[in-house]
Amino acid sequence: MPSYLITGSSRGLGLGFVTELLKDPGNIVIATARDPARSAGLQELKSKHGDGQLHLVSLDVTKGGSVHEAAVATQKVLPNGLDYLISNAGINPGALKSLNEMDMDEFKAEIEFNVTGPMHLFREFAPLIRKGGAKKVMVLTSALGSLEFSGPVEGPCDSYSVGKAALNMLTRKWSAALKKDGITTVLVHPGYIGSTEMGAGIQAWVEENMPDLPNLTVQTSVQCCLKVMHGATGDDNGLFFNEDGTTRPW
Ligand SMILES: NC(=O)c1ccc[n+]([C@@H]2O[C@H](COP(=O)([O-])OP(=O)(O)OC[C@H]3O[C@@H](n4cnc5c(N)ncnc54)[C@H](OP(=O)(O)O)[C@@H]3O)[C@@H](O)[C@H]2O)c1
Repeated sequence: MPSYLITGSSRGLGLGFVTELLKDPGNIVIATARDPARSAGLQELKSKHGDGQLHLVSLDVTKGGSVHEAAVATQKVLPNGLDYLISNAGINPGALKSLNEMDMDEFKAEIEFNVTGPMHLFREFAPLIRKGGAKKVMVLTSALGSLEFSGPVEGPCDSYSVGKAALNMLTRKWSAALKKDGITTVLVHPGYIGSTEMGAGIQAWVEENMPDLPNLTVQTSVQCCLKVMHGATGDDNGLFFNEDGTTRPW
């Protein structure tokens, strides 16, 4: 049975991945969140899938101890390894603030989130993915982390763009390190999804400045991202994809 672990699944795209993956009764899903008990969406899914298909595990990506404990809990559920790791958790504090206006503590926290969070995740979960069958990792990034697309323009989400660009390099480095173990790691921009908390935060800006940008539903976005991850081969290791499967310049 294919197994999946998703970070940041309390709401938004993370909850969407869990919902979509549970549609196949053959999948085992480890839905992680900082506090699964406080997620109405996860609790509702748990009430429908209390048969061992869905496991709720606490995981705060910014805390090494929490990631370690989540890996130990996952190992107990999946002693033969984890097939797919989806690094989805994200933050976007001062989305509409310029770099000059950005609160320095928020800026530091955002950069740290994107750099040390995935470091904890890759270190703690690599042994379980090595043991798994599919050996795939998908990291949710953003087109705004593209130096070519977002670098030359001011706003929106400037600090977010810096954090995602750092996340891209970190993931690419890890993809090179994990390749020898047969693990395929891809970065995926999920498109623009205005219905999530993060997407809603810039909706007014998008409507004014990019009125033609497609506004995807959570379901469409997660189905597209999963298609990219499932279809990725070793040749795709370390690449930066859009949700439609095309590659995006760094
Ligand atoms: N929406 C878009 O248009 C869009 C576009 C491009 C890329 N993305 C990327 O897609 C991913 C999902 O975005 P979204 O729109 O679904 O965002 P969202 O609705 O704001 O959800 C973010 C998720 O991350 C979790 N999270 C925050 N801090 C965490 C931590 N320290 N540890 C673990 N989980 C934590 C949140 O959990 P809590 O409930 O605990 O806060 C929440 O479940 C992000 O990586 C984002 O950058 C989104």
